[in-house]
Amino acid sequence: MPTEVDEQRSGNPREALRDYHQIQQLSESQEDAARIEEQPKLVSRFYDAVTRFYVFGWGTTFHFSPRRPGESLVESQRRHDEEIGEILQLKPGMEVADLGCGVGGPMITIGRASGANITGINFSPEQISRGERLVAKAGLSDTCRFLYANFMDVPLEDETFDAVYSFEAVCHAPNNLLLFQELYRLVKPGGEIAIVDWCFTDKYEPDNPRHQQIRRDIETNNAVPDLLTTERQVETVQEAGFEIIQAIDQQAEYGNPDTPWYMALQGRDFSFTSWARTPIGRGFTATVTKFLEFVRLAPSGTSETASFLNVAADALVEGGELEIFTPSFLVHARKPASQEDSSS
Ligand SMILES: C[S@@+](CC[C@H](N)C(=O)[O-])C[C@H]1O[C@@H](n2cnc3c(N)ncnc32)[C@H](O)[C@@H]1O
Repeated sequence: MPTEVDEQRSGNPREALRDYHQIQQLSESQEDAARIEEQPKLVSRFYDAVTRFYVFGWGTTFHFSPRRPGESLVESQRRHDEEIGEILQLKPGMEVADLGCGVGGPMITIGRASGANITGINFSPEQISRGERLVAKAGLSDTCRFLYANFMDVPLEDETFDAVYSFEAVCHAPNNLLLFQELYRLVKPGGEIAIVDWCFTDKYEPDNPRHQQIRRDIETNNAVPDLLTTERQVETVQEAGFEIIQAIDQQAEYGNPDTPWYMALQGRDFSFTSWARTPIGRGFTATVTKFLEFVRLAPSGTSETASFLNVAADALVEGGELEIFTPSFLVHARKPASQEDSSS
């Protein structure tokens, strides 16, 4: 049986990846209720395996952003994060949640720009311990904190938050409706959410075998159970009770064809980590990581995890090129200010 998820343990990538595959197989044979229980554990083990790779490749912010020509990956992420803080009109004194906050890159950027009190909710102990160090280093420990919790069932009172934002975390939820209902419970009347997440676009053809394969590769290799289309994502937010303010594919709207969101995955950035994604870079990385594992300078499973992530990266790039997939579908919505508003 997979190891129990606990706050103290992260293990090496090989063990984490083994647990991940075991839970994945198990969950395929399970009923819905059991899957809802198991999926967050699967995600937690996934991030135990991949977090060090993400930090190496992405730094402290684990999401894609529409990129402007001449902008680095980090600059585009920072601008994107600040824009989300601005659309929610975050300011000092507001109570805000960052749902699925990673190691805290967006929380630091938004916390610094807005002065709001932010609670980063995350189910990865490995990421939280890295994140706490980063928040302290940024001098934001008074306003930004982490909460180790499964976002499907957050141990906080109703109407705790003025606003909630999230980057690329909802896609891991075992059931989006249950998650949006949980957000509805946590947000104060009149409070707003801004969810930026992975979706299939209306160019995705469910009967197209190539599209199906891309879908499988994206989902299986990213701990994503069942990606929704953009249309279904909006309907689900509405079904939970929110009123839609804006729903938009930020890549289609603001992206630039010369600097697509997936260019870092294609090795087109001028950085070592981006080069490592090219065919030559991948061969080099595989050889070096195997050697480092052999001499015990890298934890066991490093090379296996790197090749697992390459399958995920290739599927994301192909999904992006075919425009059947977007990593940045924004749903900005409001909880009605009163019961009357919600029934009108
Ligand atoms: C792709 S990362 C994005 C991280 C962060 N939003 C960022 O942009 O840097 C997805 C995050 O969602 C978190 N996550 C996924 N499922 C979760 C769950 N059930 N409860 C809490 N956090 C979860 C993961 O641990 C991870 O931190």
